[in-house]
Amino acid sequence: MKILVTGGAGYIGTHTCVELQQKGYEVVVIDNFSNSSPKALQRVQQITGKHVEFYEGDVRDSKLLDKIFTDHKIDWVIHFAGLKAVGESCAKPLLYYDNNLYGTIVLLETMQKHGCKKMVFSSSATVYGDPEKLPLDETCRTGGTTNPYGSSKYFQEIMLTDLYKADKEWTIVLLRYFNPVGAHPSGLIGEDPQGIPNNLTPYIAKVAIGELEKVHVYGNDYPTPDGTGVRDYIHVVDLAKGHVAAIEGAKTPEVYVYNLGTGVGYSVLQVIHAFDKACGKQLPYVIEGRRPGDVASSYADASKAAKELGWKAQYGIDEMCSSLWNWQSKNPKGYKE
Ligand code: NAD
Ligand code: UFG
Repeated sequence: MKILVTGGAGYIGTHTCVELQQKGYEVVVIDNFSNSSPKALQRVQQITGKHVEFYEGDVRDSKLLDKIFTDHKIDWVIHFAGLKAVGESCAKPLLYYDNNLYGTIVLLETMQKHGCKKMVFSSSATVYGDPEKLPLDETCRTGGTTNPYGSSKYFQEIMLTDLYKADKEWTIVLLRYFNPVGAHPSGLIGEDPQGIPNNLTPYIAKVAIGELEKVHVYGNDYPTPDGTGVRDYIHVVDLAKGHVAAIEGAKTPEVYVYNLGTGVGYSVLQVIHAFDKACGKQLPYVIEGRRPGDVASSYADASKAAKELGWKAQYGIDEMCSSLWNWQSKNPKGYKE
């Protein structure tokens, strides 16, 4: 079976390519390297010992997509390609809507033309907006997103659902990721953010290697056990395996929706302390005001994926932190050296 992985050179894409190849799937990747490096795909090949068929280019380029679908008989598309920085999306909304929405439209049109009607889509817990209840299950209200990035995910879910309503031959799997963190145990692939990281765990890792001075904790007055924000962190390897489970579990045309999380929430301070343990030193942190747009708590009810796909996260917060530390300490400059 051949899978087209868009954005396959990225953080979650590389980990998913590894899991797919290790299970015997053939992988074709398209990526424009807007947020990744060709080295990441070489590392995937190093881990699996298998060749990754690769096209450098943009998912908005219909000619290139046409060529890929002509060169290969693609059975499934896993669609990661997209921009994901919340702050940047507020400053450049049109860039985000063009890349994320238009990119998906061009991709779907090309798939339709070539008779490939199976897609796994990278959605996000951000589509739940301010959580209606906790834990969040897939029936919870979506919408009320607070930034263009989140809105683009919400709109894409609607678009994909409308497509299925119009043509019942489509199989669409919407995977709502909670907070993906950590790295492959080999230490060969991991998250490589450009500039100062926006997300908590890559920021902590940069403090641990001495590149940044201290962790800034955004708010300690939330209604949570220690006052800091609570999230459902999920090991990226578990997340990657969730994509394989989705392809294997979605057997008939339908729109399937699954939360991919562990079901357990950790506070910012708990994550910092888990990282202290992983790197063997106490990391300095300072309490700051709340970050605009943040919710107090977000964690998943992940039982639907367990019941229907037989998928369950295996790793806990300690493995998430130790694998991130392994990647960060072996690659202090990410893929740059
Ligand atoms: P990433 O930036 O590491 O990977 C995305 C990849 O897509 C990059 O390699 C980038 O170069 C590529 N890309 C972007 N636009 C493209 C385009 N128009 N054409 C071709 N390639 C393009 O991000 P990631 O963390 O691996 O996220 C993958 C997907 O999962 C994204 O859609 C993201 O929104 C979604 N997601 C991520 C998180 C998270 O916290 N990491 C959470 C929820 C959802
Ligand atoms: N935080 C800090 N300091 C930092 C960074 C984050 O205290 O330097 C806190 C935040 O306030 C929040 C928690 O750590 O309480 C997690 O923040 P992240 O930025 O790591 O993650 P978010 O939950 O804000 O967002 C992530 C992705 C989004 C995605 C969302 C839901 O970045 O793209 O999960 O899936 F939409």
